[in-house]
Amino acid sequence: MGLRSGRHFLQIPGPTNVPDRVLRAMDLPTIDHRGPDFAALGRECLDGMKRVFRTAGDVVIYPASGTGAWEAALVNTLSPGDRVLMYETGQFATLWSQLARRLGLAVELIEGDWRHGADAAAIGARLAADGDRAIKAVCVVHNETSTGATSRIPLVRKAIDAAGHPALFMVDTISSLASIDYRHDEWGVDVTVAGSQKGLMLPPGLGFNAISERAKAAAQGARLPRSYWDWQDMLRANATGYFPYTPATNLLYGLQEAIRMLLEEGLEAVFARHARLAEATRRAVRAWGLEILCVDPREYSNSLTAVLLPPGHDADALRKLVLERFNMSLGNGLGKVQGKVFRIGHLGDFNELMLAGALAGIEMGLGPAGVPHAKGGVQAALDYLAGDEAEARRLGGAGSPG
Ligand SMILES: Cc1ncc(COP(=O)(O)O)c(C=O)c1O
Repeated sequence: MGLRSGRHFLQIPGPTNVPDRVLRAMDLPTIDHRGPDFAALGRECLDGMKRVFRTAGDVVIYPASGTGAWEAALVNTLSPGDRVLMYETGQFATLWSQLARRLGLAVELIEGDWRHGADAAAIGARLAADGDRAIKAVCVVHNETSTGATSRIPLVRKAIDAAGHPALFMVDTISSLASIDYRHDEWGVDVTVAGSQKGLMLPPGLGFNAISERAKAAAQGARLPRSYWDWQDMLRANATGYFPYTPATNLLYGLQEAIRMLLEEGLEAVFARHARLAEATRRAVRAWGLEILCVDPREYSNSLTAVLLPPGHDADALRKLVLERFNMSLGNGLGKVQGKVFRIGHLGDFNELMLAGALAGIEMGLGPAGVPHAKGGVQAALDYLAGDEAEARRLGGAGSPG
């Protein structure tokens, strides 16, 4: 596409818009990662990420996309042939299960309908039936980016405990961390996986693991081959603020700034902002007369909304039209819902007027794309956003499923 005036609207559910403060912070000469100035940067990033994950334990940072962090979680804790229980919330849970199979793990994927979060009762029932404790890990995607459904992690933890099962608990927060309430320690998670390009407001390129003491202990006996991903090497070097190999120095400058921004706003305020913008989005979708893919309001994602088009209408044609006419990128339908849904990302460095513009672009596109709809979605969102602050604050807890 040729030169377009004005800003492109990047409304995919990650990578998200990188704030100017973060861009400026990365625009520095790369320094010696073994020199005296690096350690302060390394330590601030590692300590800051503990606050974002809400953990007192260790966090490691890889120069990798989220997929690398998925792999790191598994290879550090498991052995060839180990049984792993996963839940098919959507495309990303499916991809994680495929990765696990390729590593030589015996994966059981509980089937889902791509319209709900993980079913804690089904996970609990499977664990209760696992008499010889063959299942070594339970893996759940907190916020399924392909469907816009957020799993209630505390319920899954409760189900594991109720079954009295010792499996490790691993959670993917790639599209929820720093957008939707998440608590690694309090929710009893052993490994949390994250990436830089969504709620953390950075370009792609950093992957994270937050690690419990149990996971660290499991790593001692885990026999899957690993070298690049090995936590031991990382943790040893990280203790003094350094890395075992060349870190993504300029992305760490950006991470340092992004963490400062998140803590200045306050994580609770960040979650409340995401909740408010998500609710406004859902009101627009309902006013258009379109269907939200996630069917359980307790599982509505505050970082993205997947919108189902009426049968016979092509979501990709709508996306193409909106891109060409209004210079806005919307998320495509992935896997089983390809062509059936489009996804509105409303996470990261994002505010009311950006959302208003995004919704306006969609509403303007629906008519020319031939999608049957009612007008007034943008107005419904604006009315909500201009309205009740107390209600907005109350919704701040909506992503913290109890
Ligand atoms: C929930 C979730 N998990 C995993 C991934 C894979 O991460 P990456 O594409 O950074 O490798 C994504 C990417 O969008 C995601 O949304």
